[in-house]
Amino acid sequence: MWWSMPIFKKTVEAMRNVVENAVRFTAQGAITITIKKEGDFGITEVADTGPGIDASVLSKLFSKELVLSGRPAGKGEGTGLGLYIAKSFMQLQQSDISFRSKPGTGSTFVFKLPLFQGSFNE
Ligand SMILES: Nc1ncnc2c1ncn2[C@@H]1O[C@H](COP(=O)(O)OP(=O)(O)O)[C@@H](O)[C@H]1O
Ligand SMILES: [Mg+2]
Repeated sequence: MWWSMPIFKKTVEAMRNVVENAVRFTAQGAITITIKKEGDFGITEVADTGPGIDASVLSKLFSKELVLSGRPAGKGEGTGLGLYIAKSFMQLQQSDISFRSKPGTGSTFVFKLPLFQGSFNE
């Protein structure tokens, strides 16, 4: 796949939002970032020990609707659009962002990105 500097920057922005969310919602414990290779994809997981995400928010997590309904449960204010923008963008470039969690043990966001091949185009 062909990667350009704007695509790289949007990917960094999406990851930055997820790490920022993790910091915002985690009062104690740790934020753990794991990077691994699965076939032709790189998997980056951002796991936190925050409150997790309840079902009402979960169903709208990657949608625009959180603008109206999803005020942050933790510290600070957000727009509610960060994950929506990240998801939309990831799907345009053969990538994905998803969520998984075990109840009561925080949140884990997973990025799946095609591994970079060839030269980097400005
Ligand atoms: N790590 C997390 N722990 C708990 N809730 C989260 C986490 N990440 C996202 N959320 C929930 O999802 C919502 C949407 O996140 P996001 O799209 O980044 O918007 P924003 O950060 O502007 O609120 C947050 O407001 C919050 O309710
Ligand atoms: Mg955010």
